Formats: sequence, C-alpha cells, structure tokens
Amino acid sequence: MTSSNATHSAAHEATYEFTAPFRAPQGSPIRELFKYVGRPGMISFAGGYPSKDLFDREGLGRALEAAYRDDPIACLQYGDTAGAPRLRQSLARLMAARGVRCEADDIMVTTGSQQGFDLLLRTLIAPGDTALIEEPAYPAAIQALRLAGANIVTVRTDRDGIDVQALAAQLDAWSEANKPKLLYTVPTFANPTGATLPRVRREALVRLAAAHRIVLVEDDPYGELRFSGESVPPMLALAEQCPGARDWIVYFGSLSKIVAPGLRIGWAVAPAAIARRMIVAKQTSDLCTAPLAQETARHYLDSGSLEPHLRSIVGAYRSRCEALLNALTHFAPHDVRFAAPEGGMFVWARLAGGRDAGEILKRAIEQNVMFVPGVAFYVREPDVCSLRLSFAAPSEAEAFEGARRLASALSQG
Ligand SMILES: Cc1ncc(COP(=O)(O)O)c(C=O)c1O
Repeated sequence: MTSSNATHSAAHEATYEFTAPFRAPQGSPIRELFKYVGRPGMISFAGGYPSKDLFDREGLGRALEAAYRDDPIACLQYGDTAGAPRLRQSLARLMAARGVRCEADDIMVTTGSQQGFDLLLRTLIAPGDTALIEEPAYPAAIQALRLAGANIVTVRTDRDGIDVQALAAQLDAWSEANKPKLLYTVPTFANPTGATLPRVRREALVRLAAAHRIVLVEDDPYGELRFSGESVPPMLALAEQCPGARDWIVYFGSLSKIVAPGLRIGWAVAPAAIARRMIVAKQTSDLCTAPLAQETARHYLDSGSLEPHLRSIVGAYRSRCEALLNALTHFAPHDVRFAAPEGGMFVWARLAGGRDAGEILKRAIEQNVMFVPGVAFYVREPDVCSLRLSFAAPSEAEAFEGARRLASALSQG
C-alpha cells in the first residue's frame, strides 16, 4: 500500500459507520502466518492444509473432464441454491456410509462447510445471543461467532473433547429465557486438539442438547481420516436412538480435507425448518455453490475413487504423524508434551516450564520451522504454553528435520 493510499484509508476508517463487529475486526490469526510459509526451506507445521503431494490429481482431472463432457450446461448454468440434485444423492450415500439415515433432500450443498456455519449463524444468532463453543476451538468458528455478535461462552474440554458433565452443570445454571442457542464442536479429530469424543459422551451430549433445546453443531471435516483406534459414529447417527434428538443437530461435512479444498464443496444436514432458512440465507450469499465444482465432485464420488484415495492419504497421514511424534520425543523429550491423535491432521502440544509458544515461534521462524501458537484457539484466556502442529503437509523427512529445528529454537529460549 502506498503512503497516499494509507492516508486515504485512515480517513475512511473514521468516515464509515461500520457495524459493531466490524469496527475493529481481527483477521484470522493463522492466515497472518501465511506470509512465512512460502519462504525457501520453510518447514510448516502451521496450516490445516492437506498435503499437496497427496491430491488425486488424475482422478479429479478425469472427474472434471467427465463432468464437462457429460453435461456442459449443468456446469455452466446457475444451479439450485440447495445444491445439484445428483450431488446431493451422492452425498446422501456418503452419509449413509457414515451411519446416518439421510435422503438427497436432507442435504444442502454449501461453498465449503465454513459457509454452512455462517449461514446457520445468520438464521439463529442475533447480536447478544449466547452461543457455546468448545475450548480450545477452531479459530474460524470463533471468528464467525464474533462477527455474528454472539455472546460467546466456552465449554471445558479434556483430552477426550467436551467435558459433558461440566457442560450439564453449566446448562442447569441458565434460565430458559436467556439459554444458549447453539453449541459448536468438532467431535472427531478436533481442530486444534486432535481429540475424539468417546461414544458415551456423544450420547450424553445428544441427550443434553435435545433436553435443553440447544442446536448441537457437529462439524466433521476430519472424521474419515482415522489411522488408528476404533471408529465412533457421528452424533447425527447416534441421535436416532434418542427420540426427537435429530431435530437438535446440524451436521457439517466437507470434501476439503478428504478430496481437495479448492473444490469448495461442503454440505449441511439440518432439520428441515433450519435448512429452509439457511437456503434463503444462501440465496443472498452466493446464489449457488459453483456448479462446475459440484458436477466434478459428483463424478469423483460416483466413480468410486474416494475409497482408494482415502486409504492412500490415511496411510500417509499415519506415517507422517508417527514421524513427527517420534522426532519430538527424540529431540525435545523434556520440552514438549503432546497427545497422540488417532486421526485427522493435528497434534496439540504444551511447552514445559511455562514457556510462551508465541515467543518460541519467533525463534522457530528464524530456524525455518513454523507452528500455530495456542493463543489462536482461545476466546478469552489463552493457555500461552500450548501450540498446534499439523503433520499433514511435511513429508516424514521434513517432519524429522522440522522437529530438530523446533528443538533448536527451544534450546535458545
Ligand atoms: C474444524 C473445521 N471446520 C471447517 C473447516 C473449513 O472447511 P471448508 O474448507 O469445508 O470450508 C476447517 C478447515 O480448516 C476446519 O478445520
């Protein structure tokens, strides 16, 4: 930005009457780090990006060509706001494989699952309304709640995710008139902690949401990336055992982590009354998700390519995760404590001795290695010793070298 532009901007800041959440908005703390990612030789444990080496380029190329060849008009014309009917069918089959009873009509396609959450907030949250969120939490969910003007209340978690007993006590303290409208959680391979909520806690959470009439938001972009342990059904599937509970769950799925984020294909399974309103909100947001991407995704899913692709990326993420954890144990056994995840993309760690991960990051960047300090994942009172390491992008050799550099940054601190 030139200095005259900067002067202009300063004048405009004072001129416009922005809405309260946009008067002094904070951008994404993680996106701020991206300027270092492209630096030559940088090893980044920072992003939640899938590995660029693991995309199914040929399979997606074939799906793109087939989509255009078979029905160019479907790719080029505006489409239904709720999503392309044939993609909704394919996604309903994918949900059935996850144990969820679901018809095409129950699926709404969104431009990434991030859009789904934003649309949901537009239908449910007025400024000042209370929304619950697990803590630590996915930063863009916190950001969306802030921009919606929500009164954000955090819910305690431990190494297995939400502490449902603590939540039950928290909920009992609210009167019906000002109770929370929703609760946001990533129950499987959470971002940032990698934690997975056990089945009994899921069942209890589903019952709690239904009993208190709170919308339970199940954000599930990582659930298929399991590389160890027993799989646990989504809460939306478990809700079948609790009469009326499905009316209180909104599920978000995404192809971003299992196929490619560039497609921007996500979906929502929401109670009809909520879905109808989210579709109206989407009409003013983007009219419809890019039809070319939807048709490509549909051909990809219907070609049977997803299953072998998943086997291949899950195997790679298992090896990368093991490489990172082994290297951390080898190079920094007394400096870094971590929990080993059973899938997903993230390792949540804590620095010993009360050290501030933000300060260590500065030295780490000098050593050409990056991570995300835990501060980014808290609403108010961060645990400054915590940090998130993503094992998805670096190769095994890079994970080893990255952990060595991290240990070197720690030894200078
Ligand atoms: C928990 C969680 N939800 C949603 C998203 C966004 O997904 P999408 O690309 O489908 O918008 C991410 C991306 O990092 C995420 O970690």
